[in-house]
Amino acid sequence: MTNILVVGSGGREHTLAWTMGANATVYCTPGNAGIARSARTFDIKENDFDGLAALVRRNEIELTVVGPEAPLVGGIVDYWHDTGLVDQGHLIFGPTRDASQLEGSKVFAKQFMAEYGIPTAPFVIFSDPDKADQYVGSLLHDIVVKADGLAAGKGSIVCQSLSQAETAVDRIMRQRKFGDAGSRVVIEDFMPGEEASLLVVCDGTNHHILPASQDHKPVGDGDMGENTGGMGAYAPAPIVTPKVLRIVESEIIQPTLHGMNQKGMPFSGCLYIGLMIDEGAPRVVEYNIRFGDPEAQVVLPLINNVSDLLMSAAQGRVLDAVVTPRYTAACCVVLASEGYPRTYQKGFPITGLDNVSQDNVSQDGVYVFHAGTKEEGSQIVTSGGRVLGVTGFSVLDNPEQAFRQAQGKAYQEVPKLRLEGSRFHYRTDIGDKALHHFS
Ligand SMILES: Nc1ncnc2c1ncn2[C@@H]1O[C@H](COP(=O)(O)OP(=O)(O)O)[C@@H](O)[C@H]1O
Ligand SMILES: [Mg+2]
Repeated sequence: MTNILVVGSGGREHTLAWTMGANATVYCTPGNAGIARSARTFDIKENDFDGLAALVRRNEIELTVVGPEAPLVGGIVDYWHDTGLVDQGHLIFGPTRDASQLEGSKVFAKQFMAEYGIPTAPFVIFSDPDKADQYVGSLLHDIVVKADGLAAGKGSIVCQSLSQAETAVDRIMRQRKFGDAGSRVVIEDFMPGEEASLLVVCDGTNHHILPASQDHKPVGDGDMGENTGGMGAYAPAPIVTPKVLRIVESEIIQPTLHGMNQKGMPFSGCLYIGLMIDEGAPRVVEYNIRFGDPEAQVVLPLINNVSDLLMSAAQGRVLDAVVTPRYTAACCVVLASEGYPRTYQKGFPITGLDNVSQDNVSQDGVYVFHAGTKEEGSQIVTSGGRVLGVTGFSVLDNPEQAFRQAQGKAYQEVPKLRLEGSRFHYRTDIGDKALHHFS
């Protein structure tokens, strides 16, 4: 069996560990209480490259898969190359620091898209807040103000009035709510349409497109309320029709890989394309440079051989991977701590986990991915805002029936999971958007 290390501690990393555990021995740093059931966990921080490298050498780990963006933007892949790990057969799946700018700098990403004619919203870049104010004052349409750098998913503000736009510029550029990430902003036109996420496994030159999915960012039903890290997801997303996918492949994926190659920063790893689709026409909202969370929870279980796919990509031969379908649909409902995405308390014991299947799901069924959990004595307690991802699966052939079964299975199990001394909150409409697209 191949030895694989997953770096990270959320629901995405649990999914990576669970899916790859079918054909590999999986290690995870630092992991969480659920990951500890699918992998050997070690308490090493994601930015402790020396510590991670030592673990990899000691355990003869052949492939390291990096979950979150911070270590990638921080150069973990470059470190693997520079210290000889890769030459010694310890491969790593993910982009270099340079290639990670597609997510690490929105200014870089937008200028890149403009240079290569990749469809996205028209935009202007500012480093002077007064000039940004002047610009937003001259506009008559809705805009989005985005901090250039990483801001934990909170640095993009959709503005429907002049005062909202001025407040956004002020918070990002003058108050520096996101630190240096706000020294420059992208101000772009609001794009109408419906969003979808596409995860594309790349080896620098070639790519393998995974089934499309849809995240649910706002905290409340009907997409009301504040944005979160993601309250749930489902896949496949029928809004991404075969026709839309063909356009995305030729107008977005191919030019992105070609452009990054031309710039001398070939993109290897998971390219996450956030799409806005309006009447069949896709445009890019943003790039991420890693698997989405919770998109990974519903996308990776749709295929067998996840470990083979990522290994092949890391070896620069992604097209050689044999990828076969597994589940036909998946729907993930996130159970969050009371108060999330604002302040919340941690440390509440979780009950009911044993009432929900925790073993390998063979046919259709449910699996609970852990995000913010940890073991405390004999109990599993909450340790984050997003706590669990209750994920239903189907193997039915009919797309609508498969989706309905996966969604039904997830929601059937949700009430069994409870907290002692607090309560979970969750959305009751994850996936309902899919229903408009089945006909
Ligand atoms: N140009 C745009 N038009 C419409 N909505 C947008 C636009 N840009 C961003 N958004 C909305 O804001 C969210 C966050 O923006 P995004 O660019 O993904 O930044 P981040 O995830 O880094 O915060 C998107 O998921 C989308 O809902
Ligand atoms: Mg985003």
